[in-house]
Amino acid sequence: MAPARTPANWWRDAVIYEVYIRSFADGNGDGVGDIAGLRRRLPHLARLGVDALWLSPWYPSPMADGGYDVADYRDIDPAFGTLDDAQALVDEAHAHGLRVLIDIVPNHTSSEHAWFREALAGGPSSPARDRYIVRPGRGPSGDLPPNDWSSVFGGPAWTRITEPDGSPGPWYLHLFAPEQPDLDWDNAEVRAEFESILRFWFDRGIDGVRIDVAHGLVKAPGLPDLGSLDAKLLDGVGAGDHPHWDRDEVHEIFQGWRAVADAYGETRAFVAEAWAGTPERLARYVRPDELHTAFNFDYLMAPWRAGHLRRVIDESLTALGAVGAPATWVLSNHDVARHVSRYARPQPEGQQRSLSQLDRSADLELGTRRARAAALLTLALPGGAYLYQGEELGLWEVEDLPEDVLQDPTWERSGHTDRGRDGCRVPLPWSGDCPPFGFSPDATTAAPWLPQPEAWKSLTAEVQDGDPASMLNLYRSALSARRSNPALGDGTLTWESAPDSDVLSFRREPGFRCVVNLSDKPVALPAHSGVLLASGTLDGDRLPSDTAVWLAL
Ligand code: GLC
Repeated sequence: MAPARTPANWWRDAVIYEVYIRSFADGNGDGVGDIAGLRRRLPHLARLGVDALWLSPWYPSPMADGGYDVADYRDIDPAFGTLDDAQALVDEAHAHGLRVLIDIVPNHTSSEHAWFREALAGGPSSPARDRYIVRPGRGPSGDLPPNDWSSVFGGPAWTRITEPDGSPGPWYLHLFAPEQPDLDWDNAEVRAEFESILRFWFDRGIDGVRIDVAHGLVKAPGLPDLGSLDAKLLDGVGAGDHPHWDRDEVHEIFQGWRAVADAYGETRAFVAEAWAGTPERLARYVRPDELHTAFNFDYLMAPWRAGHLRRVIDESLTALGAVGAPATWVLSNHDVARHVSRYARPQPEGQQRSLSQLDRSADLELGTRRARAAALLTLALPGGAYLYQGEELGLWEVEDLPEDVLQDPTWERSGHTDRGRDGCRVPLPWSGDCPPFGFSPDATTAAPWLPQPEAWKSLTAEVQDGDPASMLNLYRSALSARRSNPALGDGTLTWESAPDSDVLSFRREPGFRCVVNLSDKPVALPAHSGVLLASGTLDGDRLPSDTAVWLAL
């Protein structure tokens, strides 16, 4: 039986809903989502039945990377609202029984942050440069970057500084866009500043923090070349092998953060966005004196194949269980193609993250059927889960956004070869027959910042609300059943299907079984005392292909 839920361990099995604030709901009619819009839609989230919200960055930002370029960590961007609005949101969410997590971006600031402006303005000997990673260039005149690192968004990870007198200076590191200079975490002032930022938000009642690029803060001494290592992929990379990802020294920083959180009475929880080479390396971030949870990207990237999913589930539970941490499960977020569209294609043997490597002919009906089954699988697994806004509506990736509306820096930085992540960030459809589908208030003139497909008129929250068979009502039923069923949430599972079967069947105590049919033909349901919930219509006592069921035993 799953351990009892208490306020102190809420994070062990919480279902946390990601709000990508620019695209959730627009309160002031400028076509961009904001805090006012989110406050108005809190009843949707409470009714959905999630436990907490994770808000993407809401700080003042030039938006070179959708707010992940933070200019001031202690304020709110005027496009989203004010600090008072943020406080009102937190208080109202709490009144609805929803906890609130914010996103903290410690690897880099915006190039418009006061620290970076000071570093540039101060000239070559300015101590303000010590907060960033600034190095002389290579070559006789220093006009080659200090090493061979490349940016995650494409192009080199270094940009040369132009000194106040106009002369070319040293280079600064940016593992992401040039507008996102990397901080130097060997600098004591940087460390103290982020602990102070955490307290600033915890003092305002924030229940937890998602840590952006948690695996990137520490770079190897001397900044050695990557050589043959990949700047993005970490598969199989072990201890200390990579010069800028998942270095052992990063853990000491998070032990300090944990101490900050623990000083607040009721549990404040961290979730790490950490990419690591193996499940064991990931588990190091969630050891008892460190962070509470970490996203499970191996699960997100798994194809819709029983064997692959089962292996990821087992490896995750084993590695995390060894350090006493709960697993988390996630299917989509603001950085990857929506899973309806990923599952709508022939499934690859290995991991899948973007759509470009896949067959272009999407069968969205198939993708949706699988997404419904995946929701029941995800919410039945031991631990917590992350939902991405719009997955409860069954939204698909918008693959045909016109090129002139694309905003993700990946599009420019890849030389227009990678369209980037805008297709999963299209504003949500709430109501009505045509854009903006209730995203912005009536009588608004500004269009949503990314255009919504006309076909989303059949996926609005309003349409789905009254349809018992809708994706929205499937999520509501699953979340409510999960909340009231003592077998679900934290705990363990026991497989009942054979390891090489195309059917996943597992038991949870007391008296619960989840069966997912990933084969291409119906299978007989095992003995049960009642069907609690099914992702599709059952065929008598048979479970159709790409369908999942929760059974009482
Ligand atoms: C994380 C965010 C992503 C952002 C990047 C740089 O991966 O999820 O959206 O672009 O960090 O901050």
